Amino acid sequence: MRHLALATATVLAGALALAGCGSSGSGSDDAAGTGLSVGSAYMPQPVSDSMAAGFLVITNNGGAGDALTRVTSDIAGQVTVHRTVGQTMEEASRLDIPAHGELVLQSGGNHLMFEQLKRKPREGEKVTVELRFAKASPITVDVPVKSPTYNPKTGH
Ligand code: CU
Repeated sequence: MRHLALATATVLAGALALAGCGSSGSGSDDAAGTGLSVGSAYMPQPVSDSMAAGFLVITNNGGAGDALTRVTSDIAGQVTVHRTVGQTMEEASRLDIPAHGELVLQSGGNHLMFEQLKRKPREGEKVTVELRFAKASPITVDVPVKSPTYNPKTGH
């Protein structure tokens, strides 16, 4: 299922705008029985040859909290989870996913950092990302690569 954000109207508006851009939005995976689902995933086409950022929302429909503990991808030697604190970012060993809540990775906040890129992702491609959790089974997500200036709020 798609994730139900508090800002549902904004998400819907974004989805409508996206429909005109040729590409459908995020993939959404619902791992059976875990209560976790992933939506709103995208990667802005990186400017750098060596690093890229990724964003997504993990929704927890279950009654128990979980945590994102490890991320891997076929295109990167290493993927780390970063937290933004003020103007700087720091690596997080885990990010909590509250029961009946969500973990939001978005521009300007928490994000994935793809390091040691094996190839440079280009707009229109998809990047396979595997998310591992403290309790739930791993979830694999096909993350669409968007333009370098893509903004999910406007669809562009
Ligand atoms: Cu970072």
